[in-house]
Amino acid sequence: MTRTVAIDGPAGAGKSTLARLLAEHLGVERLDTGAMYRAVAWAVLRAGLDPAAGEAVASLCRGLRIEVADRVLVDGVDATEGIRGADVDATVSVVAANPAVRAELVGRQRAWVDARGGGVLEGRDIGTVVLPGADLKVYLTASPGERAQRRAGERRDGRSAEEIGAQLAARDRIDSSRRDSPLPTVEDAAADALVIDSTGLDAQAVLQEVLACL
Ligand code: CDP
Repeated sequence: MTRTVAIDGPAGAGKSTLARLLAEHLGVERLDTGAMYRAVAWAVLRAGLDPAAGEAVASLCRGLRIEVADRVLVDGVDATEGIRGADVDATVSVVAANPAVRAELVGRQRAWVDARGGGVLEGRDIGTVVLPGADLKVYLTASPGERAQRRAGERRDGRSAEEIGAQLAARDRIDSSRRDSPLPTVEDAAADALVIDSTGLDAQAVLQEVLACL
């Protein structure tokens, strides 16, 4: 029986949509781990901290209450929209490259799974670090152009697809090249994950590919 599913991949590949559909199908909960890193970045900006200030950011993170469900609450404040803002988009990868922040959040993510006996988790390091023993690992990607188009459709904050594309590429570069828990390349992921290129596929088609592997 499939209890734990890891979904990893670059920004805008469709991980959240797949996680939602798959969790519904399996009757388990899902956790958007990216929302947790975004919550920390949001709190860092709010506190006026330098995102690259390793110890100060780590200490803020350790003391932060982060609740990720339909809404995202940070120390009880609703940050659901705030964590998707352009300022957080531009900062989150720097915060997520901080090893002490990662250690704290990975611990919380594993505790989340233990408390439920399973779930669908999406992020960058789920199959490699958080749940290396997951029942199913999916690596979801799509062409850079399609990822930027999709994200521009979601954001509606006046940024052009070009601006968003440049931003996604910058984030992917940091996420793939950081020392601690980098996002694997497609080639590396292929060793133990189901790799799906969702370019030109709708959400149902991606879901069907995954279900065929269960
Ligand atoms: O939704 P999108 O693909 O734009 O990104 P996200 O899942 O919301 O994650 C935002 C950022 O958090 C990523 O660019 C990574 O820097 C970081 N992240 C991470 O390092 N590890 C994870 N497991 C999830 C997200």
